Amino acid sequence: MTQTSPSSPRPFHQPQQGSALHCGKVSLESLAKSHGTPLYVYSADQILERLGLFQQALAGREHLVCYAVKANSALAILKLLAEHGAGFDIVSGGELERVLAAAPEAAGKVVYSGVGKTAAEIDRALEADILEFHAESEAELELLAERAAKLRRKARFALRVNPDVFAETHPYISTGLREHKFGIDIRKALKIYKNAAGNRWLEPHGVSVHIGSQILSAEPFGVAMRRLRKLLRQLEREGITLQTVDAGGGLGINYHSGKFDAAAKVREYAAAIQSALGAFQGRLLIEPGRFIVAQAGALVTRVVEIKRNGKKTFVVTDAAMNDLIRPALYQAYHEIVPVSPRAGKPRAVDVVGPICETGDFFARDRQLAPVEPGDLLAILDAGAYGMAESSNYNTRPRPAELLVEGAKARLIRRRETMADLFSPEIY
Ligand code: LLP
Repeated sequence: MTQTSPSSPRPFHQPQQGSALHCGKVSLESLAKSHGTPLYVYSADQILERLGLFQQALAGREHLVCYAVKANSALAILKLLAEHGAGFDIVSGGELERVLAAAPEAAGKVVYSGVGKTAAEIDRALEADILEFHAESEAELELLAERAAKLRRKARFALRVNPDVFAETHPYISTGLREHKFGIDIRKALKIYKNAAGNRWLEPHGVSVHIGSQILSAEPFGVAMRRLRKLLRQLEREGITLQTVDAGGGLGINYHSGKFDAAAKVREYAAAIQSALGAFQGRLLIEPGRFIVAQAGALVTRVVEIKRNGKKTFVVTDAAMNDLIRPALYQAYHEIVPVSPRAGKPRAVDVVGPICETGDFFARDRQLAPVEPGDLLAILDAGAYGMAESSNYNTRPRPAELLVEGAKARLIRRRETMADLFSPEIY
């Protein structure tokens, strides 16, 4: 890892060879000293750089980058993104409340995806006058029409269609096949739009897809968009002209290597989508989550103990699967580096947390530079689906979160206390 450059994949680097790891200009040692561990550290500069890459790549047409809130829903990060022109993709009433709290002026830039929206969630979103609802089923569209009629507010909707595109990724995060619970079969979409067009409380406004997450090739995005384009033409022949096309999120990052040209990836992705869309005159929406925040974040943890069991060496950290569940849940790989490197040869270790589960690991049989109890490790690429998927399992308070902006680090969420954990309980 060397000095960060506009297309370098991570903001974590050593200013000089052998020196401690920094986020931008801020030393992780000093942050751990003042805020304790485990600790999430994010680079605001990189988050904005990534948002900018998408905005620039789509600059040739009307567009809106709707950041997928689920990837990292820290209020400070939502606010930062809104200040730089982002819209938001939400999947729950809770995520809507986050956007309304952090950036109320962005309500009109919100798209609402996800199966199983309740009447109360729909009402709140209608009142907030969000950009569009992504209906995931005919039943949901009926519910939307009913609530819209009740509140006397016309609902702009897009059908989330299932384009039946296979995208190579982990089975838990693949969504674009007919066998998945998401979306409406694209073959049924035309009929549903035609029916809905006759309802005075529904406005056919757009069409959306989301084929999965952590997709590394641009091709499946192009295939999905070509299928949407065909549907758009059929709709036009029926006199239904949509205002938006939403290509979803899902662009992946390289978790394995420091060599990853983010700018080139975004250009390739944007080109695949745009060429498939052809002369569509409306607004192009995209919903990237991971690509914007993953590499901007690291989970900083302290080594508690080095434990040897037979041939195995376990590096036990004060972070655990409750703080970052991706390795346990998706067998995800995260690069792990010592914050202050020691001399000596790397050796194979398991990096594990203190939770009472064999699945509580960050790495297995990983070549790691020598570490001692008390040393700090940085678990990289942890900015997306890290804190967002954290829990209090084993009665562990969630970590603090810091946002680094230039030469300054700002606490954006304090570490939880026992009082926070106990407060909802009655005993
Ligand atoms: N839009 C919709 C409708 C989604 O369901 C998702 C993610 C996104 C956008 C953003 O996808 P992204 O650009 O972040 O790939 N927890 C898993 C990932 C779950 C993704 C779920 N949907 C992980 O840690 O890999």
